[in-house]
Amino acid sequence: MKKKKILVTGGTGYIGSHTIVELIEAGYDVVCADNCINSDESSLQGIHELTGVKIPFYRVDLCDREHSECIFTDHPDLSGIIHFAALKAVGESVEKPVLYFRNNLNSLLNMLEMCLKYNISSFIFSSSCTVYGDTETCPVDEQTPLKEAASPYGRTKQMGEEMICDCLANSKTQSILLRYFNPAGAHASGLLGESPMNAPQNLVPAITEAAIGKRQELTVFGTDYPTRDGSCVRDYIHVSDLARAHVLALNYLLSGKQAEAVDIYNLGIGQGLSVLEIIQAFEQVTGVKLPYRMGDRRPGDVVAIYSDYSKASKNLKWKPNFGVEDIMRTAWTWEQNRSMKTKSY
Ligand code: WQD
Repeated sequence: MKKKKILVTGGTGYIGSHTIVELIEAGYDVVCADNCINSDESSLQGIHELTGVKIPFYRVDLCDREHSECIFTDHPDLSGIIHFAALKAVGESVEKPVLYFRNNLNSLLNMLEMCLKYNISSFIFSSSCTVYGDTETCPVDEQTPLKEAASPYGRTKQMGEEMICDCLANSKTQSILLRYFNPAGAHASGLLGESPMNAPQNLVPAITEAAIGKRQELTVFGTDYPTRDGSCVRDYIHVSDLARAHVLALNYLLSGKQAEAVDIYNLGIGQGLSVLEIIQAFEQVTGVKLPYRMGDRRPGDVVAIYSDYSKASKNLKWKPNFGVEDIMRTAWTWEQNRSMKTKSY
């Protein structure tokens, strides 16, 4: 039987590259599109080493509708799109809101237009727990009312979800919105991981950079929050667990099991850990003493959020296989491998 072909936008990025590996291993054909403004094309090499497959790659800005459309004329047999392409740093979005709204919303709008024009049957959207805003209730489930987003990044995800509901209603395209909590860690092989082009903004890569000496120390952004130790609480999910959830969501959509035009799933592990607890976990797993200092709060941060993922377990038959120790071990291995390749710091 002919394999179903899926377009992965943002496919050279962190979650995108891990998801492409899972898709290929699940028997899908994959086409990758990315403008590589914050990812490294070398992740395609990691995908090839892991799967033996060289996937068609389009280095294209998805905000450029005309250049993006050639993907669809070259591949009229696409069964679905998994849309990762977006900028995703909460702190950076506060400093550069115009860039975030233009990049995240224009690229999404172009992909939605392609879904309608080329009758793409499935559309999976990389959403985020940041859509819940600074919620007082934890864990959050998919019925938890959304509060005002705490950052322009979170607002692009709230608006993105609304755009999908409006544009795909009464269309042939069914959609699933996956609300990621905090993706972290790296592929167990050590061949894939987070390799942003700019200095990483997220906590776990910032920890491994400080641990290996790429940065002098880690700054803890705020220790005066109303949490058990004063630092922010998040729900850290291993990137491979997250990638696998995308395959299960795609299988679910393509099997015709979803009745709704659009449905929503939380993807976290249901455990809230503070920044200081994450640092402690890193030191315990790796035996490396982390240089860090206590700093001011970062604008755009919410105090605490972690997930109720029972809907994904029930419908998608998904559950996390990895915990925070696996996140720390794989993230550290990846950082060491990466630093050996680019011993320039
Ligand atoms: C986590 C905590 C920081 C860096 C992320 C993604 C977003 C979305 C949700 C998927 C915060 C603190 C960080 C540092 C620190 N995921 N921190 N020092 O902001 O929760 O958002 O998950 O869509 O895309 O960005 O993650 O890792 O930036 O921050 O103290 O050097 O770590 O203040 O409390 P965030 P993060």
